[in-house]
Amino acid sequence: MPLLELNNVHAYYGGIHALKGITLYVNKGEIVSLIGSNGAGKSTTLKTISGGVKPKEGTILLNGQAISDVPPHETVISGIAHVPEGRRIFPRLTVKENLEMGAFSVNEKRVIAERMEKVFQYFPRIKERLHQRGGTMSGGEQQMLAIGRALMSGPSILMLDEPSMGLAPIIVDQIFSIIKELNDSGMTILLVEQNAYQALQVAHRGYVIQTGEIKMTGTNIELLGDDQIKEAYLA
Ligand SMILES: Nc1ncnc2c1ncn2[C@@H]1O[C@H](COP(=O)(O)OP(=O)(O)O)[C@@H](O)[C@H]1O
Ligand SMILES: [Mg+2]
Repeated sequence: MPLLELNNVHAYYGGIHALKGITLYVNKGEIVSLIGSNGAGKSTTLKTISGGVKPKEGTILLNGQAISDVPPHETVISGIAHVPEGRRIFPRLTVKENLEMGAFSVNEKRVIAERMEKVFQYFPRIKERLHQRGGTMSGGEQQMLAIGRALMSGPSILMLDEPSMGLAPIIVDQIFSIIKELNDSGMTILLVEQNAYQALQVAHRGYVIQTGEIKMTGTNIELLGDDQIKEAYLA
């Protein structure tokens, strides 16, 4: 049984039919990349999984359990962490407070402290800046903080929406290598990217979304080698 499974998911913004029957799955331990151009429905797919957008039709299962009607704060409790597009850290809160916000569903201080230590292992820079306000950090550091905050909830799946957006190439490389490292230590990841090449390189499998529909799926090697994909997304 996949860890996460979407079956024929439709979603709308008013009259706009943004998702037209999305079917995909993510197995435990995988990195799965969802690639597609601007406006294809990538962010809406993640929002629908984390409960911010209600599917009008279709099912979303986490560990075989339906979560299609679960509001965002409860999807976090059930194990889904969503790092939204544009990071959305709390700029006026300190780095530490931002991390603590990620653990809102956790009561035990010991667990919070342990998770924070783990975040520091992945992101040593965060530890150096613990008492600084989130908004004073660079874009790359804010992205790292956003991922760290998501990890504080102790998720079973981490969903990242365009983590490389707007960052310098060297920082992008760092982010992708941390994504790989997180996965190597067991984290299941659903990665949304316009940066198709790097997203497919780091992934086990991928899906291509176009105007709200999945147009293609395969292993990273199959997709990286596909002529249509090369032309449309890797050029
Ligand atoms: N809040 C919104 N209100 C209305 N339309 C939206 C909203 N968010 C996204 N859309 C539309 O839904 C479609 C999918 O958008 P989105 O999921 O953000 O695409 P992507 O993340 O792939 O760039 C686009 O046509 C976009 O214009
Ligand atoms: Mg988007």
